[in-house]
Amino acid sequence: MAKFAKRIANMQASADVIRQLFESMTDPETISFGGGAPAREALPVELVHDIASEVLTRDKRGIQALQYGNPTGIPDLRRAVTDRLLAPKGLTAGMDNVLIVSGGIESMNLVSQLYLEPGDVVLVEAPTFVQAVQIFQLFEARCIACETDDNGLVIEDVEAKIKKYSPKMVYVIPTFQNPSGRTTSLERRKALAELGSRYDVIILEDDPYSEMRYSGTKLPPIKSFDKTGNTIFVNSFSKIFSPGSRLGYIFASEEIIRKVYDVKTATNSHASVLAQIICAEFFNRGLYDAHLKRICDIHRERRDVMMDCIAKMLPDSIKAVYPDGGLFTWVELPQSVNTTALLGDALAQKVAYVPGREFFVEDRDNHDNCMRISFGGVEPEKICIGMERLARVIKARL
Ligand SMILES: Cc1ncc(COP(=O)(O)O)c(C=O)c1O
Repeated sequence: MAKFAKRIANMQASADVIRQLFESMTDPETISFGGGAPAREALPVELVHDIASEVLTRDKRGIQALQYGNPTGIPDLRRAVTDRLLAPKGLTAGMDNVLIVSGGIESMNLVSQLYLEPGDVVLVEAPTFVQAVQIFQLFEARCIACETDDNGLVIEDVEAKIKKYSPKMVYVIPTFQNPSGRTTSLERRKALAELGSRYDVIILEDDPYSEMRYSGTKLPPIKSFDKTGNTIFVNSFSKIFSPGSRLGYIFASEEIIRKVYDVKTATNSHASVLAQIICAEFFNRGLYDAHLKRICDIHRERRDVMMDCIAKMLPDSIKAVYPDGGLFTWVELPQSVNTTALLGDALAQKVAYVPGREFFVEDRDNHDNCMRISFGGVEPEKICIGMERLARVIKARL
């Protein structure tokens, strides 16, 4: 039997976590706070049906939809990105600064293809998004964790580790972070952009959740403070349109986008043109604003129900992040509770979450008392039932 490449073993631990996550979502009787899916009610099924049937039957775009496309993505969707998604965030982008990708995950993959050599260091938040770690490890990079607190990455620690490790990249999810639900403060956003410029490090800013804000004040992206082009802004349509469509985008300097074009052609040529046309029409017909309001209303209610259940059902000694948006909260139990061991009890009671240790690249044993709870994909009544089950299991351990 031929041997797999060494890089496959390199990413195996994070790949296993992700496989378990997908598999935990399959038992219909288990109320899963494990996945990161948006509410099924938030998916614009009717709108997509109408647009798709028009595109494929009457509209001349049927041929375009089923033909090969351009690696940068269709102009209509890139224009929707520059005008409707980037400009309102204070990001001024030309069409040549944007390339459409097949989902946010692919943007990390393409940026890694461009920059990472085996042995390169990538600084990540502690905790961070497991699939990003899997990608960096697939490119044989070494992920080093930086400290975070309620205001996001601790800048002094990032700077110290930049000096110590000369990393290629700092990966950061500044808004409603996965897994913690926390948001990086304005000052730290500015500081991160400045660190990228001063030390010539790529700041890979991943922003799939900022549109889903339910409370608090909007903050500008790190990219808006970038004066040297060191920050690469990547995003996804998964939470605001549809994860199954596999669409996302990269916003960077023209020079970087030209290189991303080359690695994209070597990867899968271009994102699905059919999906791009439907998504572009969705924006260009002016359907996005009402849809965004709807999905924020749906998820706000779930956030509120979840935070209420945590306050009422879990003991006071338990700390939970109050997220102003997104899909996750992060719960810290007393050190005596091991959430990996607790998961067995929880699954027996038909409720699931993700143990905190899975989101750390170092020092995992110190985070065995944490868990990520995702409220996005669970209906409000089921959140209450699921949290009653979870509270019972936690109290039994305490
Ligand atoms: C932090 C983060 N980045 C990126 C993504 C990208 O997802 P997708 O590949 O579905 O666009 C996700 C999805 O869960 C995420 O949580």
